[in-house]
Amino acid sequence: MKKCIFTLCLFLLPLWGGRVGLLYSIEKVESPSLNLTAYFDVQEGRPVYWLLHKGDTVIRPSHLGLTIRGEKGRTDFNDFGTKERPTEEVNGLLSGFVMTGSERFIHDSWWEPVWGEERRIHDSYHEMLITLTQPAKERYIQIQFRLYDDGLGFRYIFPQQKNLNYFVIEEEQTEFAMPGDITAYWIPGDYDTQEYEYTRSKLSEIRAIQENTNKANLSTTTFSTSGVQTPVLFKTNNGLWMNIHEAALVNYSCMHLNLEDNHVFTSHLTPDIDGTKGHIQTSATSPWRVIMVGETAKDILASRIVLNLNEPCKIEDTSWIKPMKYVGVWWEMIAGMRDWSYTWDFPSIHIGVTDYSKAKPHGRHGATTENVKRYIDFAAKYGFDGVLVEGWNIGWEDWFGNEKDFVYDFVTPYPDFDVEGIHDYAKSKGVKMIMHHETSGAIRNYERWLDTAYQFMRKYEYPAVKSGYVGNILPIGEHHYSQFMNNHYQYCLEKAAKYHLMVNAHEAVRPTGLCRTWPNLIGNESAQGTEYQAFGGSVPNHTTMLPFTRLIGGPMDYTPGIFENDIHKLNPNSHSWCNTTLCNQLSLYVTLYSPLQMAADLPENYERFRDAFQFIVDVPVEWDTVYYLEAEPYEYVTIARKQKDKNAWFIGSTNGYDPRTAMIDLSFLPAGQKYTATIYADAKDAHYRNNPQAYTITTKTVTSKSKLRLFTAAGGGCAIKIVPKQ
Ligand code: NOJ
Ligand code: CA
Repeated sequence: MKKCIFTLCLFLLPLWGGRVGLLYSIEKVESPSLNLTAYFDVQEGRPVYWLLHKGDTVIRPSHLGLTIRGEKGRTDFNDFGTKERPTEEVNGLLSGFVMTGSERFIHDSWWEPVWGEERRIHDSYHEMLITLTQPAKERYIQIQFRLYDDGLGFRYIFPQQKNLNYFVIEEEQTEFAMPGDITAYWIPGDYDTQEYEYTRSKLSEIRAIQENTNKANLSTTTFSTSGVQTPVLFKTNNGLWMNIHEAALVNYSCMHLNLEDNHVFTSHLTPDIDGTKGHIQTSATSPWRVIMVGETAKDILASRIVLNLNEPCKIEDTSWIKPMKYVGVWWEMIAGMRDWSYTWDFPSIHIGVTDYSKAKPHGRHGATTENVKRYIDFAAKYGFDGVLVEGWNIGWEDWFGNEKDFVYDFVTPYPDFDVEGIHDYAKSKGVKMIMHHETSGAIRNYERWLDTAYQFMRKYEYPAVKSGYVGNILPIGEHHYSQFMNNHYQYCLEKAAKYHLMVNAHEAVRPTGLCRTWPNLIGNESAQGTEYQAFGGSVPNHTTMLPFTRLIGGPMDYTPGIFENDIHKLNPNSHSWCNTTLCNQLSLYVTLYSPLQMAADLPENYERFRDAFQFIVDVPVEWDTVYYLEAEPYEYVTIARKQKDKNAWFIGSTNGYDPRTAMIDLSFLPAGQKYTATIYADAKDAHYRNNPQAYTITTKTVTSKSKLRLFTAAGGGCAIKIVPKQ
């Protein structure tokens, strides 16, 4: 099935000793179907690229390169006790270049993900590999461009050589010169959180909007009021859609974009503890910088460029990696109805010091054996694969303490959580337990315990762990998205693979398609999730943005399924409101793709709406293929999926602020057959604030010629299940 063609045209090689040839022409590469053209040139010693879509400029001429320190190798560096940092190199890897090589490759293949939105993925690109030599420094780097029909990926390659062994990145200076004052869909730059709502504005408005937000003190580690995070979505003034992100973020710092004058974004890497942007030992590569381009917003959803730019799967036996639908002892704590901690005694001091068996319980602990068994029963009754339990292990009394470096051990349960008994009970019911590791950002502590914690999971047959990184990172001064932390997330993921464990990391760096290489990364949060509905409420259109932005890099553990909007009913002290209709919540199981889907509400709330809950019971987490039906970021999104190995189709339409009629064309269904559609729709008078639980459930005979017109309320949506008619 695999078809790979490689062709190579070698123009010139970077050779020292008299054989350095120079290329003077502008280099170009075209995408397989010729819709995109990327150009490369060296202008006054500086590398420059630009990108055209059918003759239209999408990226204006933009510089490439990096400023660095300590270029001459390790011996220059601070190895001998001197306090001096390596000094910044004049021009670094920024200028003084001549082009000494330009090669071309063609690639065309298909590959099968372990799990994903579709069974097979087409990987087809034209590559241009440029070699850039700095004669004055007697060294060279390469820039690798891969042009797909759905976008451009490029990265820096730092080959190992006499004059380039080790260096510190001062800043990556990649530019993205946008084609004018276009519309951006963005969240502000931040080294430590992505849990923001999206703003739609012109580029020229970004700074003022952020300055006003900063006045309200909403942002914590924003580095600049014109910084944004990726994936960032754009609509050009000619109606093209673009998205800038990165792929394969490994052993490197996470990239932000900073808007400079003249609508030019420059890369801004997350600093490490000493303020530099990363430590490179050659041979090395940067992550791919990705510019997705589409004629419609649906093209952005259909693009697989980020996955394609990642390495193939590195796990040989993947039989243990299984998508899961789960419930959990979670929303009760998020809503403030129960607690993660066990005792009033505060602080708990440190591991081994507090005797929890003598501590005074406050009686609001969520992870009690009894409560967990209730969730196991519920999961077994409705066919859920797993039960997540948070707050099962000691340490929660102390997790904001200064000494949190020693809070958790990830293996000692609270006295009222019977780990053995729960394991046996879940097993007897055919339900898997999902582990929870809240690291509280204490990285050394977590790494210290990691093997023990993963062995504990194996012993009690937990197939997956939800890890979390709430709060400031320890060591103090590190940020959530620095090279150091990205290496930590990778370390956990690879170690988990060795133990055959799946990972769903919250507050970790945004995903960049690494789930292709490490498919045991079955989830990430890395954006504002459902929890914010209990922290004051999310804006009703938040989930209409996620498929076009956050989900570009990989699936999100969004944890949908809240049926009871009024958090006050769970917690008298809360006045939060979940700003969606019930049908909007159902739609999310289809529109927010994830191999890991939670039914986040309490069992009793599902029993109250038993008929609507049936959609969550029925919706699968494994798919054969996807059909993007309607897409207008910030407004609405409608997606259909075919269940893996089954003749069943599921449709979700997620709506934002304005009530509308979703136009659902069923022509993706195989023709010549009749089907039964079960339609979960907002009632005519439904509204996310005033009447969120008003819905209708109807059945209808449909064919591939049917076109459904379905009302979706403000903050509303609809969900449909289609099966062949009996
Ligand atoms: C934040 C996570 O997003 C949430 O899901 C979790 O319950 C808490 N941290 C506690 O770890
Ligand atoms: Ca979170």
